[in-house]
Amino acid sequence: MENLIPEIDILTKQETEACQTVHISKDHNSGSIRKLYIESYGCQMNFSDSEIVASILQESGFDTTSDINQADVIFLNTCSIRDKAEQTVRHRLMHINGLKKHKPQLLVGMLGCMAERLKSKLLEEEKIVDLVAGPDAYRDLPRLIDQVDDGARAVNTFLSREETYADISPVRLNSNGVTAFISIMRGCDNMCSFCVVPFTRGRERSRDPHSIVAEALDLFNKGYREVTLLGQNVDSYKWSEEKNSKAWIEKNGGRDVVNFANLLEKVALVNPDLRIRFSTSHPKDITDDVLITMAKYENICKYIHLPVQSGNTRILELMNRGYSREWYIDKILKIKEILGYDCGISSDMIAGFCSETEEEHRDTLTLMDQVQYDFAYMFFYSERPGTLAEKKFQDDIPVEIKKRRLDEIVQKQREHSLLRNKTDLGKIHKVLIEGNSKRSVEFLQGRNTANKVVVFPKRNYLKGQYVNVLVEDCTAGTLVGQVVC
Ligand code: SAH
Ligand code: SF4
Ligand code: F3S
Repeated sequence: MENLIPEIDILTKQETEACQTVHISKDHNSGSIRKLYIESYGCQMNFSDSEIVASILQESGFDTTSDINQADVIFLNTCSIRDKAEQTVRHRLMHINGLKKHKPQLLVGMLGCMAERLKSKLLEEEKIVDLVAGPDAYRDLPRLIDQVDDGARAVNTFLSREETYADISPVRLNSNGVTAFISIMRGCDNMCSFCVVPFTRGRERSRDPHSIVAEALDLFNKGYREVTLLGQNVDSYKWSEEKNSKAWIEKNGGRDVVNFANLLEKVALVNPDLRIRFSTSHPKDITDDVLITMAKYENICKYIHLPVQSGNTRILELMNRGYSREWYIDKILKIKEILGYDCGISSDMIAGFCSETEEEHRDTLTLMDQVQYDFAYMFFYSERPGTLAEKKFQDDIPVEIKKRRLDEIVQKQREHSLLRNKTDLGKIHKVLIEGNSKRSVEFLQGRNTANKVVVFPKRNYLKGQYVNVLVEDCTAGTLVGQVVC
């Protein structure tokens, strides 16, 4: 079916203050008349959703293009997590609407979290798009496009309690042919007070494990060697067959529920040469069973993204995170105990949350000293309309102070990333090759189990291969070495 994949473009922009990435996919052309162009912003879930959108529209006969000027339909798959993410999309829309002057029939649609948050306001009050579709409405896109073709504006922001797109085989966009995302659940029930996600993505629901395992197997058979299982809180993954039939329970090893540890094991068993990663774990929900399953299978990568948000217990309470500083540090100790000191650990941090004092900010810095993360995404607090924090607390930390605190966090993380990378010097790392190094075509790059980028001379090695690399040098972001066997 590869040759039927239409020409698809997607630009992916990770909306973080700490990093921004842009990927452009290869062109495909199956000869269809209408061309689609998609740009994705925000988190991996959104990038993964764009692959579902591409699949749905491929079925409706759309080719896609990497040239926005060739497009008949332009979709922005948007993020609402911080105000800056929404402003970026608004600026982009102003530019895109400029294209309409030369091409009045151009259809511009907004998908994703910002579409869900602002709903028909974008159509009726602001009139900046023709079509609005929330994250659970993508099956309806062909009908919505028809509606716009018939001269109406179209909107569907219905949030579902069931939709997981389990049966849709995503069109892999921006693919390096080696690593892919598999969405295992949607929505979030956690209600962290700062976070807009529960409002934009709706209630948490898990996807049928059979369809997840089948997707992993299909990817492996197509040459992929790493899958990342995606969810806002993967540790609360839970699936039970509707009728809990005896046959199903038997097939499931006598258990009537599949939890995240069980799912990890099922995917790990697809093939020992298929690496498994997952994101995001929640400190209050990650279980020892998950850690033990990770230790049991070599192909489950020894890397955990465990966002702490703050190192101060009072702030964590205001954030409604469900754990204290001490609980979090105990979890880190447990990870080190079960998975060893080399297990990669990364985090998200928010500087300047409502009422945070200097001392409470320093608690975040001292927690970082204790944990020594390999990597972190770092942000300053951005109040989001409709969230618990917006309703209950004052966004009272001046922006200059938020930025100064963020700088201190970023500076500390840089030191820790370098320190942690230095501990890898002189060691041999098993690396899955992902492609050419970003800096030079003479070098290849891949990742070790702890998710660190490793760069080494190309010779005759190929992407998708595993190689053992002796690490001889490093920066805060990269390990550099030679293949030894
Ligand atoms: N589900 C994941 C995170 C999703 S959002 C989890 O629970 O960890 C990704 C990150 O964005 C969050 O971890 C948080 O650090 C940051 N974030 C979310 N809302 C924010 C806000 N209002 N202001 C600043 N950063 C925010
Ligand atoms: Fe947002 Fe918290 Fe859910 Fe993560 S767990 S998506 S931070 S509400
Ligand atoms: Fe953004 Fe929505 Fe993801 S708000 S971070 S795109 S879930």
